[in-house]
Amino acid sequence: MGRVVFLFLLFLQVLGSAHSRCFCQVKGELDDCACDVETIDSFNNEQLFPKLQTLLESDYFRFYKVNLNKPCPFWAADSHCGLRNCAVKPCSPNEVPEGLRSSPHSKYSAEANKEQLDECEKEKHLGAVDVSLSEETQEALLDWRKHDDEAERFCVIDDEESPDSQYVDLLLNPERYTGYNGPEAWQIWTSIYEENCFKPFTIKRPLNPSSFQSSSGIDARTFYSWLEGQCVEKRAFYRLISGLHASISVHLSARYLLNDSWYQSKWGHNVSEFRQRFDSDLTAGEGPKRLRNLYFLYLIELRALAKVLPFFKQPSFRLYTGRPEEDQKHKELLLDILQLARSFPLHFDETSLFAGDEKEAAKLKEDVRLAFRNISKIMDCVGCFKCRLWGKLQTQGLGTALKILFSERQIEALPHSRGQRPSFQLSRQEVISLLNAFGRISTSIKELNTFRSLIGEEMT
Ligand SMILES: *[C@@H]1O[C@H](CO)[C@@H](O)[C@H](O)[C@H]1NC(C)=O
Ligand SMILES: *[C@@H]1O[C@H](CO)[C@@H](O)[C@H](O)[C@H]1NC(C)=O
Ligand SMILES: *[C@@H]1O[C@H](CO)[C@@H](O)[C@H](O)[C@H]1NC(C)=O
Repeated sequence: MGRVVFLFLLFLQVLGSAHSRCFCQVKGELDDCACDVETIDSFNNEQLFPKLQTLLESDYFRFYKVNLNKPCPFWAADSHCGLRNCAVKPCSPNEVPEGLRSSPHSKYSAEANKEQLDECEKEKHLGAVDVSLSEETQEALLDWRKHDDEAERFCVIDDEESPDSQYVDLLLNPERYTGYNGPEAWQIWTSIYEENCFKPFTIKRPLNPSSFQSSSGIDARTFYSWLEGQCVEKRAFYRLISGLHASISVHLSARYLLNDSWYQSKWGHNVSEFRQRFDSDLTAGEGPKRLRNLYFLYLIELRALAKVLPFFKQPSFRLYTGRPEEDQKHKELLLDILQLARSFPLHFDETSLFAGDEKEAAKLKEDVRLAFRNISKIMDCVGCFKCRLWGKLQTQGLGTALKILFSERQIEALPHSRGQRPSFQLSRQEVISLLNAFGRISTSIKELNTFRSLIGEEMT
């Protein structure tokens, strides 16, 4: 009972006192307040999205080092090399800016050294790239590598030094509809929801594609009353996962393969696909709930960005690619974006999470952390490489956001930890995934607007 009251308090806090008029409909049940949605929409679509897009196109952020060849630890997974749209094209060594190939032992440097670059290539390289590291940067790189506090991580990070880890250019491998669907794709989400969201097997998830739909009304009622009874942390956890699922579904509907003839592939918005996933009538009321979870996820990640500002403000932090002018410009843009995130008025108050009895709270935090880590491992079971890439990136990004939210004290202590081991660190992979994952959610919010107008047009 205490937990339920706690839940109400949380939602009142989430919704913020200054903006309570927007949230007049909050009654413990999640509201569907258009006003709130509009605040987020205009903040995101007009202010944040365009800047973030520019940042994510920079070399520092577009190259993500990932191991797509880890075996699935849970079951025998098929890979879908056969599906053309599932393929991921890793970068050839020359495509990755020299400054990013940080380790002399990395595959790329080794290959690059062996490789006979033609003269023209060589010139281009030498002209464009400053490979000399300033002392400060060397220090920073060293810090990055030293950093190994797994204990604070909410997800499993690939070993960047592993020969199986490769740089992928995210701009050349966009997240979009791949045709990866049906039972295998469901298995991923089913194992996430069924085995990793604290849900007992007896409670059926509404609209579970692998169960019969006939009983879904009863399922939904049982499910939501179960969820209401959960503590706020587990409930928030479920909403984050559901929000992530919704976000990915929005992307796939917005970049649907509309025409696939042998000489051209055309991707674009598919309103009917969108409706099948989110229309209230077609989803027995589930769609709008999923979209609200998407906004919840947005608020959580936005909050993390606002909180992590002191880390990125440190002079020793550089978006190091080896081109000092660009690096500086992009760092300024990043700080600008984080300031903008700070200025957003409707922030989620995570201090109420894990705030109960200290021992119980610590246990709960550990449960949530382990469940989330496990979900990040399930991403290695996604058969379609393209989906695996984006699934890994987005779960890592969310895991990093959670790590930030629960490291507030360490982040605030940063300016005072000069000369000592930094109290808080993020690896390059965490930085890339944090910003790119938020970029995906920001894109979803923007795409929702597009779908709203497309559906509006259809109605008239
Ligand atoms: C991790 O996920 C797998 C697959 O869903 C599940 O079988 C396993 O029980 C989970 N492990 C933990 C520790 O939650
Ligand atoms: C796909 O595009 C080709 C060429 O533009 C066109 O001839 C064909 O009718 C299109 N197919 C569909 C299903 O729209
Ligand atoms: C849109 O998606 C639906 C499935 O939801 C599919 O049947 C239809 O062919 C798609 N439309 C186009 C133009 O590809």
